[in-house]
Formats: sequence, C-alpha cells, structure tokens
Amino acid sequence: MANYPTKRLRRLRYNPLVRDLVRETELSKNDLIYPLFVVPGTKVKNEVKSMPGVFQFSIDTLVEECKEVAALGIPGIILFGIPEHKDEQGSEAYDPNGIIQRAIRAIKAEINNLLVITDVCLCEYTSHGHCGLLNGEEILNDETVSLLAKEAISHAEAGADIIAPSDMMDGRIAAIRKALDYKGFTKIPIISYAAKFASGYYGPFREAADSTPAFGDRRSHQMDSANANEALREVETDIEEGADIVMVKPAGPYLDIIRQVKDKFGMPTCAYQVSGEYAMIKAAGINGWIDEERVMIESLVAIKRAGADMFLTYFAKDAARYLDKTKK
Ligand code: PBG
Ligand code: ZN
Repeated sequence: MANYPTKRLRRLRYNPLVRDLVRETELSKNDLIYPLFVVPGTKVKNEVKSMPGVFQFSIDTLVEECKEVAALGIPGIILFGIPEHKDEQGSEAYDPNGIIQRAIRAIKAEINNLLVITDVCLCEYTSHGHCGLLNGEEILNDETVSLLAKEAISHAEAGADIIAPSDMMDGRIAAIRKALDYKGFTKIPIISYAAKFASGYYGPFREAADSTPAFGDRRSHQMDSANANEALREVETDIEEGADIVMVKPAGPYLDIIRQVKDKFGMPTCAYQVSGEYAMIKAAGINGWIDEERVMIESLVAIKRAGADMFLTYFAKDAARYLDKTKK
C-alpha cells in the first residue's frame, strides 16, 4: 500500500471542481419534507417564538404557503393541526370536518404537485396533551390504537397522500394498515415514526403545536435515548406490520440509529430534524455565533450521509433556496 509521500489525500481537495467530482453525499430537493402547522381562523400567520421563520397558518394562508413550497420544488409537506376544541378523547383528530381534514381538502383543491403527508397522533387534540386515551395517568394502548386508525382513515378520506403515525403505541401500524385497506386506501403509503425517542429536542414543537402534556411526560411510549438495539426492534416490528418508509426521530443526535436502520433493513429511511435541532441552529445563527446557512447544510448532509433517504426539516425552504443558488 502506497504511503506518504506517494499517497497524498489532499490531492482531491486542492480545487473546488475536484472536490465537486469526488463528493460522496449530495443534497437534493427531492429529500425535503416541510412541516407546517395549521390553526383555526383566517389570515393567521403567527411566528413561533422559539422557532424563528416558522409560523402557524390558518387554512387560507396555509394554502398560499403550500403554493410557495411547491414552487420551490419541495416535493412534500407534513401537516400538524391545532384544533378549535380539545377534549379528553381528542375528537377533532378524527372529525371529518376537523382542522387537518379541512386543510387537506383546501390544499388539494388548489395544488396538485405537492405530497400532503399527515401526522397521526392525538396529543395536539387532547385537553391533557397526551398521545392517547388516559386511565388515570396511564396512557391506554389498544383503545388509543382504534382512534388512531379512525384518524388515519379520516385523513385519507380528506385526500392525504401519505399517513405518518407518530404516536409510538404498540400495534398501530398493523391497525392503521388494516383500516386503510378495508376502506379501499390500499395505495396510501405509511411513513412510520418507527424509532421515536423521548427527547428534550421536541420543546419548541410543543409551543408550535400547543401539545405540552398537562402532567408527566412521554417516556411510557417514546423510546429511551440510550437504546439502539431496541430502536432496531421497533423498526423491524413496524416493517412487519406494513410500514412503507421508516423514520428515526430526532435526526442529528441519532445518526448512529439512522445508519444502523439503513444497513440492517435497507428500507426507504426518513429522519426528522426536529424543532429543537432547528431552534439551536437558528438561535446561534441569529446571535452571529455560527454561520447559519453553513451549519444548516452541514447538518442535513450529515443526516443524509448517515443513511437517510429523505428528511423532515424546518429548513426545507432555506435548503431549497440554497440548492437553487448553488445550482445543485
Ligand atoms: C406528536 C409529535 C411530536 C413531534 C412530531 N409529532 C411531539 C412529541 O412527540 O412530543 C415533534 C416534532 C418536533 O419537535 O419538531 N406526537
Ligand atoms: Zn403525540
């Protein structure tokens, strides 16, 4: 084996054209899914304090935003709804006239080149902010799964293209697949939030989606951040139950999990660069402590290099503009 001075790894770094030639990981607009928050009312565009550049939209302004997203060449959005009324059962989650169902119909009436993905969970809709039905302080699994299946069907009936359950109940992928198929939605894919960790990085999202639990936390259903083998068992289970795409969440702090999931299963793999990851980069950028654009791209390249085929990111619009600017 050749060694220095015959071998010089810097030869492929001296010139930008050479660097472009040998680059192993390239971002593409096709990788991007943009999360959007929809709230009741009209003409609403509220900036989320802990997520500068991210807004809550009413349905009318949401449709305009979606036009801009589609025009940027971003292939898909994922919708989160903040309902008019919350109750113990999270009824608006599966109401045919709920906020998400109306939002999907409004988008689909005007835009035909954008995948509408919906997040399926109850925490935005329950008065207690938990992801499922409660018995005292316990989150019930099987009773919750039935409601999630109802929620998924109501999204599909409204016109959703892909269903993304984020609840982490056991057996929900099988139940949702069965329910969708029974209703004739055999072609609708499921992106499963398969390895979703109980994470402090979700803090800003809970402000954006008004879904902070009234007591306790989500550790009885979301995963312990220390566990990698268990993450693989979660992913394997969801694949067996019928998930078409599997997701790891958060992304940046869990690159090892993304790599293991990709290597072990070879499935289309998605990663969610969550609200806290976004907020930290934004905050440091706004303070002038880091170069925001550079760190944004570096963070997304890292997620892709780890094995993700696509990612949910609040930077999707910025990343698309960057890709336009650099003509990638
Ligand atoms: C709902 C849900 C959450 C996120 C996506 N879907 C919050 C949570 O589990 O508490 C977090 C996304 C983010 O932080 O950007 N279950
Ligand atoms: Zn939830």
